[in-house]
Amino acid sequence: MHVTSPFLLALLVLLLLPPSTQPRKASQGKGLRVGRHRHRQNRVRGGGRQGRSGDSSHKGPDCSEFSNPGNLFMDCQGRKLSSIPSALSFSRPPDHLLLARNLIQALRNRAFSGYEGLRSLDLQQNRISVLEEEAFLGLTHLTSLLLQHNHLSTLSEEALIPMQSLRYLRLHDNPWSCHCTLESLVRTLQVPSNRNLGNHARCEEPFRLRGRKLKRVDPELLCLEPEPISATADPKGEDGRNATVPLQPSPFRSKPDATTVCHTYLFPTPHMDCRSRDLTEVPSDIPREIVRMDLSQNSLRRLKGRDFVEASRLRSLNLSHNNLEDMDTASLSGLLHLHELDLSNNSLRFFHYGVLEDLYFLSLLRLDGNPWVCDYSIHYLVYWLRLHPGVTHSGLLCHSPPELRGKSVEDYVHSYNRACSQTEQTDPELWNTAMELQVSLEEKEVEPANLRRPQKYRLTRLN
Ligand SMILES: *[C@@H]1O[C@H](CO)[C@@H](O)[C@H](O)[C@H]1NC(C)=O
Ligand SMILES: *[C@@H]1O[C@H](CO)[C@@H](O)[C@H](O)[C@H]1NC(C)=O
Ligand SMILES: *[C@@H]1O[C@H](CO)[C@@H](O)[C@H](O)[C@H]1NC(C)=O
Repeated sequence: MHVTSPFLLALLVLLLLPPSTQPRKASQGKGLRVGRHRHRQNRVRGGGRQGRSGDSSHKGPDCSEFSNPGNLFMDCQGRKLSSIPSALSFSRPPDHLLLARNLIQALRNRAFSGYEGLRSLDLQQNRISVLEEEAFLGLTHLTSLLLQHNHLSTLSEEALIPMQSLRYLRLHDNPWSCHCTLESLVRTLQVPSNRNLGNHARCEEPFRLRGRKLKRVDPELLCLEPEPISATADPKGEDGRNATVPLQPSPFRSKPDATTVCHTYLFPTPHMDCRSRDLTEVPSDIPREIVRMDLSQNSLRRLKGRDFVEASRLRSLNLSHNNLEDMDTASLSGLLHLHELDLSNNSLRFFHYGVLEDLYFLSLLRLDGNPWVCDYSIHYLVYWLRLHPGVTHSGLLCHSPPELRGKSVEDYVHSYNRACSQTEQTDPELWNTAMELQVSLEEKEVEPANLRRPQKYRLTRLN
C-alpha cells in the first residue's frame, strides 16, 4: 500500500519516455503492470458497480454540484449508491461530498483516494457496517465526518488517525458494541479537546452497558470479563441474564434527544429535520450550531419555557401542522436570530404577553390555520406586529366569536381601540395585566392621558 507513489512516478516516467525504451527495464516494467492494475481497480470501484464502464469520460453518478464562494459541494444524497463514486467522475475535486441516504455498506481501504481535498463528508443514513482501518487515508483536510444512522458496531481509532484536522464527528444511532475492541476509540473520544467527536453515540451491547454514552462510559469497563452467571463461563451469558439482572441499563429519559430522533445535516447550512416523528414534546439537546429546524407534522401540544434555549443560532423554525394550543411565555426566549417562524395549522387562540419578546430579527411569521380568538387576549400579538413593521405575517383571522369569524384580527383590534378612545371611561379590565400598560405606553394611536397615571404602580408590580 505504501509503495503507491513510487509506482505512479514510475508510470509517469514511462509514459513520458519514447515507446521504444519502455519495456526494457525489468523493475520499471513490473511497476507499470501494478500501476495499471491499480488504476483500473480505482475506476471499477467508482463507476463499475453502478453498471458503468471504466471510461473516464463518463459523467459521474447523477450528483448535483453547487458552490458557495470557495466551496464546491457535490450532492449525491439519496441516489441509491452502493459505493463511493470515483473521484475521477467529477470535473473538479469537491470540498464537500454529500452521500447521505444511500445504500453504502462498506468503506474499504482508500475508499476516498482522489478526494484528498475534502473538508466535509456526509455518510449518514447508509448501511455501513464495515469500515476498514485505512478507509479515510489521505483525508488530511477533513474537518467534519458524519457517520450517524449506520450499522457500525465497532471502529478502530486507527481509522481516525489520517484525519488530523477532524473537529466534528457524528457516530450516533449505530449499534456500538462496547467491548475491548472499542476501547481505543472511546479513549480518544473522551480526550477533552475532542469535544465534538462522537457526542450522543451510545453502546448497544453488552447488556450491562446498553444506553451508555461512548463519551462517558468508563473505558475500563469495556475490557472487563463478563461475570459468569452460572458454572459455564459462556461470554454470551451476560446478554441473556434478563432473569437475574434488573432491567435498568439506560436512564429513563422524559424527553427525546434531538440528535437521536431527528436527522441532522450540516451542509449547506446546519439543519435538523424532525418532521413527522410523532413528537409530543420539543426534543432536548438541540445542537447549538443548528440554523434551521423543521418540527412540522408532529403532535406538539405545548411549547415550554427553555425548549429552544440551546438553539440560539436558529434562523428558521417550522412548527406547522402540530396541535399547539399554548406557548409558554419563555418558550421562544433566546431566539435572537430567528428570521422565520411557521406556526400555521395549529390550535393557537392567542399569544401570552412577552412570547415574541426576543425575536428582534423576525421577518416572516406564518399564523394561518389557527383558531384565533378575537378578544382582549389577542391584542398583544397585534401590538407586537405593529411595533415590528418589518415582519411579514399571514393568516391572522378571527375564528371566534362567531360574529367576527373570518374578519381580520387587526381590524378587530383597531376598531376596539377606536371605540375605547372615544369613551372617557377606562375599562377596568384594561389593567389586568402588565401587557396593557406596555401596550398603552407604546401605542401611539391610543394614548389617553388618563391611562398614564398608574404607570408607577404597574411598573412596581412588574418587579
Ligand atoms: C429473556 O427473557 C425472555 C422472556 O422472559 C425469554 O424469552 C428469553 O429467552 C430470555 N433470554 C434472552 C437471551 O432473551
Ligand atoms: C413548514 O412545513 C410545512 C409542512 O411540512 C411546509 O408546507 C411549509 O412550507 C414549511 N414552512 C416554511 C416556512 O418553510
Ligand atoms: C392549514 O391551514 C390552511 C389555512 O387555514 C387551510 O386552508 C388548510 O386546509 C390547513 N391544512 C390542513 C392540513 O389542515
